[in-house]
Amino acid sequence: MSAYFWFEGIAFPAIVYKREIIEESRDKFVIRDEDTVIVSYPKSGTNWLIEIVCLIQTKGNPKWIQSVPIWDRSPWIETQRGFPILINKEGPRFMTSHLPFHLFPKSFFRSKAKVIYIIRNPRDVLVSGYFFQGNTNLVDNPESLRTYIEWFLKGNLPYGSWFEHTRGWLSMRGNDNFLLLSYEDMKKNTRGTIEKICDFLGKKLEPDELDLVLKYSSFQAMKENKMSNFSLISEDIITNGLVLMRKGVAGDWKNHFTVTEAETFDKVFQEKMAGFPPGLFPWK
Ligand code: A3P
Repeated sequence: MSAYFWFEGIAFPAIVYKREIIEESRDKFVIRDEDTVIVSYPKSGTNWLIEIVCLIQTKGNPKWIQSVPIWDRSPWIETQRGFPILINKEGPRFMTSHLPFHLFPKSFFRSKAKVIYIIRNPRDVLVSGYFFQGNTNLVDNPESLRTYIEWFLKGNLPYGSWFEHTRGWLSMRGNDNFLLLSYEDMKKNTRGTIEKICDFLGKKLEPDELDLVLKYSSFQAMKENKMSNFSLISEDIITNGLVLMRKGVAGDWKNHFTVTEAETFDKVFQEKMAGFPPGLFPWK
């Protein structure tokens, strides 16, 4: 049985989070103009994006990604491990966060720091989360996918509702310091997405350097990289053997949802995401 604490309507698993750090992240953490933040709802392809951003930084040289754990290269702002690393780090920083918009460090909104927000079909986010979180102490053990779908639709999961998270962050669309990416586009056109990220970060890579970024951020390469595949994660969080690199495809939800579950999900999606332009969400 996992224990949560609630902060501003959002559930945080007590095993990895502390209320004081969530509060300090929002109110006191200083984001600087030269910082880059990767933001997502969990299971949207966050670690893939971190790997790409790190490789862009080193122009494709894999030394950094193969010698330092992924959570220390781009630490999570709101975690007990990440927060102290970040406040003690000088110079431009990479950092990651799953915080919803309303809990994000206030200082960001006065800065020129860059945010890359990655979205993914919430049905795939859900299935990925079911298999991942179900093997951790981060959530109660869902008896079935059906139960997990109920929790997901109600937002009764760590970091709250996908719908609220996405609505909140999409309000940043159109800002110069905000880049919106999707897992689906990243799968379909990885090279093009990497180029987009380079442009946004003001980095110029040669074609052969780009090839290296592609090579070392591939599903297979990340699966084999113990600094990135979560095999080093602390054992008290894991119940059943934890796999980050599960399938790495778009549309796996179709293998898991029943017709009724898919219809229920569609209905909630239409209601909660009404008002966004058609075509913004690149999944079917
Ligand atoms: P699946 O469980 O659907 O396989 P996050 O990093 O936000 O926790 O997201 C994890 C999801 O991203 C997992 O999805 C994982 O397989 C996928 N992923 C991680 N690295 C990837 C890569 N290099 N290429 C494709 N998918 C990747």
